[in-house]
Amino acid sequence: MRRRAPAVARNRQPILDVLAPHLPAQGLVLEIASGSGEHIVFFAAGLPQLTFQPSDPDEVARASIDDWASTEALANVRPALALDASAASWPIASADAVVCINMIHISPWESAIGLMRGAARLLRVGGLLFLYGPYHRNGAPTSASNADFDRDLRHRNPAWGVRDLEAVIALAREHGFGTPHVVAMPANNLSVIFRRASTTSC
Ligand SMILES: C[S@@+](CC[C@H](N)C(=O)[O-])C[C@H]1O[C@@H](n2cnc3c(N)ncnc32)[C@H](O)[C@@H]1O
Repeated sequence: MRRRAPAVARNRQPILDVLAPHLPAQGLVLEIASGSGEHIVFFAAGLPQLTFQPSDPDEVARASIDDWASTEALANVRPALALDASAASWPIASADAVVCINMIHISPWESAIGLMRGAARLLRVGGLLFLYGPYHRNGAPTSASNADFDRDLRHRNPAWGVRDLEAVIALAREHGFGTPHVVAMPANNLSVIFRRASTTSC
């Protein structure tokens, strides 16, 4: 059942290096769009004091996640939840941090809206929302590879596409998140680190 996404072997350590200092000392970390599950088992192995909740709307992905967690015998990874970020309600009531890697460009914009709405509902003030992926800046690609990737995504599905960082920040602000800390990552990706600042405005 276990699937392998080739990029994960390259990006999991750089992501963990940036993410780990922002996570709470203990608590529950919800991952949205866990995909193969390779990120969450890597993070859980490196951070045994935290509990990790994987999720994905795709049944095949959930089987892969659960298989990775049982193969690695990780006691701090819960069974994967069927969670669609764009759904009006999520099957989890609270979390201390929400992590979402490589989803908002490969899903309709409604998923980004749902992600912000759901994360704002789950997190306490000060709670972490961590995003990772490629972004345009001020409406323009920041590299030829991201421009090519954006074209490919839109060809596959017109509702997909590399998102503009400023639009994501504006959306996050509408849902009560503050100005993010942004970290340049390998292969023209960004880590975007939000904190829930207040109650939501919508
Ligand atoms: C490119 S994969 C990324 C998987 C993993 N995070 C990674 O970086 O390897 C995109 C994932 O987003 C999930 N996804 C797509 N739309 C979603 C939505 N509305 N809510 C939650 N997950 C979604 C897909 O099922 C898929 O597993």
